[in-house]
Amino acid sequence: MKRDVALILGDGIGPEVMGQASRIVTEAGAEVNWIEAQAGEGALLRCGSTLPQETVDIIEQTKVALKGPLTTPVGGGYRSVNIRLRQHFDLYANVRRTRTYEGVATKYDNIDIITVRENTEGLYCGIGSNPDEHTAMSTRLITEAAERRIITYAFELAGKMGKKKVTALHKANILKATDGLFLRCFEDISAEFPNIAHEDMIIDAACMKLVTDPENFEIIVTTNLFGDIVSDLCSGLVGGLGLTCGNNIGEAAAIFEAIHGTAPAMAGRNNANPSACINAGIEMLKYIGQEQCALRIENSLIKTLKEGKVRTKDLGGSASCSMFADEVIRNME
Ligand code: NAI
Repeated sequence: MKRDVALILGDGIGPEVMGQASRIVTEAGAEVNWIEAQAGEGALLRCGSTLPQETVDIIEQTKVALKGPLTTPVGGGYRSVNIRLRQHFDLYANVRRTRTYEGVATKYDNIDIITVRENTEGLYCGIGSNPDEHTAMSTRLITEAAERRIITYAFELAGKMGKKKVTALHKANILKATDGLFLRCFEDISAEFPNIAHEDMIIDAACMKLVTDPENFEIIVTTNLFGDIVSDLCSGLVGGLGLTCGNNIGEAAAIFEAIHGTAPAMAGRNNANPSACINAGIEMLKYIGQEQCALRIENSLIKTLKEGKVRTKDLGGSASCSMFADEVIRNME
């Protein structure tokens, strides 16, 4: 029986890359019934709301969504729809895997880093104020319950994936209250997983080490803002934002997406790399138990990137987004 999955095409390059990713999922023979839903700037123009109630209802019903990037205005305007979705559905774990692909030129051969980021609080909790026009405050909310939950998730994921080490990134030397609590939770929970090594690093030094010695990292666990930044850094190490996806996982629902944004300057040109969204589709299929289909697409994506006959501009080629997707479909066995 086909599984209902919400499909949000998104803004900017979203419809192009998501159009190709959803086409590939369908062409791979997935038992998926797409239910299109609106969100973001486009939804505001079309339906008068950045997050229509109908979209929330659809995800409540499907429990799973494949979502394109959504515009968030800089320095003002409406609140991030991504954060609203993550908080509404309590999608507490943001899991982003970056790994080297054969055929994609990078300085390193063997990067496979999974960033597990707390996704509902921290500096993105949405609490802030302007006491006067010259002063602004944002609250960094860290709760023991949320930190214990994400750290446990990271160690359990390490166990499931056969990873040997979890690294916590923090700034507990300066942010003593918030990251002090995060670090105490990390030390406490790591003791429950004696077979998995653990270490902690101050975030600034960790960024340097990620650039000079990335192969030494396996699973990173960290708070919301740090995880957002560090996972983009990791993506840069393996070929750019066009490759990496992010899984937003909760107890009752999950939303799969690319980690990149709407890339407005590229929108409508059919030249963005759809690989990140294809990877999001692969992760979504694994989540709903359609592993065979996921593997079929994954093998084809790896083969297409390795052969390098058809490459998008960000990876040094000249192929369009749709030409790349055609090649992935051709390479599916
Ligand atoms: P961005 O990720 O859209 O673009 C950053 C750079 O990466 C640009 O140079 C762009 O050309 C390149 N890039 C991104 N995706 C690519 C792809 N698939 N293929 C080839 N190159 C690609 O980040 P930016 O410019 O900071 O944000 C633009 C908008 O996207 C903002 O409104 C931001 O809030 C939103 N955004 C949404 C996200 C989401 O919905 N999950 C995540 C990140 C940003």
